[in-house]
Amino acid sequence: MFVCICRAVTEDEVHEHCDSGARTVDAISDKCGAGEGCGTCLERLHAIVAERNATASTAA
Ligand code: FES
Repeated sequence: MFVCICRAVTEDEVHEHCDSGARTVDAISDKCGAGEGCGTCLERLHAIVAERNATASTAA
């Protein structure tokens, strides 16, 4: 499923960037451009990053 329509970035791709160490929306944007167009996806990107960071902090 696409998270960012403007840059054709899927949710799986965002998770892959998180797996590769991206911990902020800016870091994900730098890797794939998500969020750099209309901005509609930013809320979802922030939610994914928050979920991943919460999971990472409880797993540690
Ligand atoms: S949908 Fe992501 S920037 Fe437009």
